[in-house]
Amino acid sequence: MKVLGLVGSPREGANTEKLVNAILEGAVENGAETKTYNLSKLDINPCKGCMTCKIEGKCVIDDDMQELYDEVQAADAIVLGSPLYMWEITAQTKLFVDRLVAFIKPDFSTRLNMPKKFVLAYTQGNPDATTFKPYFDYMEGLFSFMQFDVQGSIVAAGTREKDDILAQEAVLARAKEMGKNL
Ligand SMILES: Cc1cc2nc3c(=O)[nH]c(=O)nc-3n(C[C@H](O)[C@H](O)[C@H](O)COP(=O)(O)O)c2cc1C
Repeated sequence: MKVLGLVGSPREGANTEKLVNAILEGAVENGAETKTYNLSKLDINPCKGCMTCKIEGKCVIDDDMQELYDEVQAADAIVLGSPLYMWEITAQTKLFVDRLVAFIKPDFSTRLNMPKKFVLAYTQGNPDATTFKPYFDYMEGLFSFMQFDVQGSIVAAGTREKDDILAQEAVLARAKEMGKNL
């Protein structure tokens, strides 16, 4: 079982990375093989809307997303983590998400080998974990539309300093459990 971890926070070693790692740790405990990328360290360009992928089945932009396309295709499960920036995922994460359009065929079926489980992990400075629930639901809807088997979302709220998540034992335990269930 291969689990791909993607971290959309530009702050290295901070809360989002720790949350994603907790999920991956749980997966490893149950025998999974994992690989993690920090999206902000990769060269991922914005989709240019050329729609060549609809005809040729492949994105024409020659950047690090080509490696991620292979990783996504090879994964049995994906954990996508992002901080909330201005009420949504970071720009770095959005670049990745937009480029997944290459996997959607013109009839909206998928080019991905399914099934693939999907977990969404968020961090946010706001201490109220329910504030962005409608956005988290919308994101689950988006990934379900792309035919992923969405397992759910997890949020660490009130994370402002880099290590704040370490005080949230219950969240980290839940993250590990989500990873084990993958
Ligand atoms: C540009 C920017 C925008 C942010 N916008 C929000 C927001 O809309 N809602 C929120 O709760 N926190 C917001 N935050 C706080 C971060 O989501 C929070 O500190 C998170 O833990 C950062 O992730 P990291 O610790 O992995 O770097 C923002 C932080 C930055 C830098």
